[in-house]
Amino acid sequence: MTRTVEATLRACEAARAGGRSVGLVPTMGAFHGGHRSLMRRARPERDLVVVSVFVNPLQFGDPSDLERYPRNEAADRRIAEAEGADLLFAPDVEAMYPNGEPGVTVDPGPLGERLEGAARPSHFRGVATVVAKLFNAVGPCAAYFGEKDAQQLAVIRAMVRDLSLPVDVRCCPVVRQPDGLALSSRNRFLTSEQREAATCLFLALSSAAELARAGERDATVLVAAMAREIGATPQARIDYVAVVDDATFEEVRTIAGPARALVAAGFGNVRLIDTLLLPTP
Ligand code: PAJ
Repeated sequence: MTRTVEATLRACEAARAGGRSVGLVPTMGAFHGGHRSLMRRARPERDLVVVSVFVNPLQFGDPSDLERYPRNEAADRRIAEAEGADLLFAPDVEAMYPNGEPGVTVDPGPLGERLEGAARPSHFRGVATVVAKLFNAVGPCAAYFGEKDAQQLAVIRAMVRDLSLPVDVRCCPVVRQPDGLALSSRNRFLTSEQREAATCLFLALSSAAELARAGERDATVLVAAMAREIGATPQARIDYVAVVDDATFEEVRTIAGPARALVAAGFGNVRLIDTLLLPTP
């Protein structure tokens, strides 16, 4: 385990000097099956697998959300070991931000302002900034991210491209419960009724996928179907439902190429998101 950027970089540079490839799985800890799937994918693809655990204050708008974010380093350490990770990088806030809140940050551009970015101002600036720092702590590598946070993945891909970062970004599919609910560290805060209601997110995405598979090309029809499904669930408060171009994340009116459905809703004070790449007929 390492606690500093310097020690992490030393370990990664030694690996690369010996001809070994490096993989990075960036996380905020409180591991579940989604995090495990990223480690499991990285293990056979890379020689040195680094898993970072850092609850990044810069990406939380609401201080109470940051306060109650689950933390369990001992359990995370055991899980990372069980998944074959070689190095856990678990810095504290001072190690990542020695001068307090950084004055220089990564601007995620217009992509950072839509959808999740509109619901959570400055969230993607915080994500892009910390991920750039994690990339620098590890050096040239392949980095593994979940499709679950599809807009985050798009922001990171754009950052890597626009800033020429020496990182190969790899996308891992959404891991779900048997009833379709995407695994999330926030699911633990749902009451049993809210947990049951939360299945409406995957049902909504599935209804959009069904329409797309049948040849529906009008995105507003898909959006209306998703809104109906979530709207019919009394415990759910819709934040947004959208169909976007999978490459640009621009909302589309007509589906012409690869498109993605996105949903976000509140259940009590728990906010959940989910996404599905739409099938082509
Ligand atoms: P965190 O929420 O801990 O997620 C870490 C990684 O796990 C992300 O790439 C996320 O997309 C992936 N993940 C979460 N739930 C998943 C699921 N059900 N199936 C597949 N993958 C899943 O995302 C973050 O942390 C942070 O924003 C971070 C990138 C670490 C920057 O602080």
